[in-house]
Amino acid sequence: MPIRLAVLLSGSGTTLQNIIDRIDRGELDATVAGVISSRPGVFGLERAKRHGIPASEVVRREFSGNEAFNAALWAEIRGLSPDLVVLAGFMSLIAVPPDFQNRIINVHPALIPAFCGHGMYGHHVHEAVINYGAKISGATVHFVDTEYDHGPIILQDTVPVLDGDTPETLAERVQALERELYPQAIQLFAQGRLRVAGRRVFVH
Ligand code: GAR
Repeated sequence: MPIRLAVLLSGSGTTLQNIIDRIDRGELDATVAGVISSRPGVFGLERAKRHGIPASEVVRREFSGNEAFNAALWAEIRGLSPDLVVLAGFMSLIAVPPDFQNRIINVHPALIPAFCGHGMYGHHVHEAVINYGAKISGATVHFVDTEYDHGPIILQDTVPVLDGDTPETLAERVQALERELYPQAIQLFAQGRLRVAGRRVFVH
């Protein structure tokens, strides 16, 4: 039985598209039960609709606080009965109910714990990596806990930072890596091959 994914996003949804493509190619034992956006009218919602996937909005700025936002968000997520919640460029802080501990994953476009945390997303990350003079960057897939980019690391791999890199060229290299790592991590979860012990995730 394929596992049910709830995909949460706030933007263009290239991460969602990759997951849809992998499922279509038979590389992922999963189905996208629904897509939820924290921003209105983003292209990620359109991608979902094009593939006949239920899409909805829980708009962060319409809520005064994180608690009210998360109550609405989780009502929507639970309506999809997901096995796994997949953050795909989701730019709001998600609460982690006890029954979803180690059942929410995120991909971050750098080597956590470097160049991550609040405000570190998209091109900000790559700009920071280049300006710092780091020689490698990479991508990290991790379980989500109550802090930004912080939970137990599932998979992580590197790419070089080249002398001529701009945030755009580095982003391309990192995103190519993300497109491999994220589905891999989802597949390991689907196969029940991940065991979490404290901060460490063991792959069987
Ligand atoms: C991805 O590169 C992902 O790593 C990053 O946002 C992008 C989403 O692209 N996530 C973070 O920075 C999380 N801190 P998309 O909206 O086109 O899928």
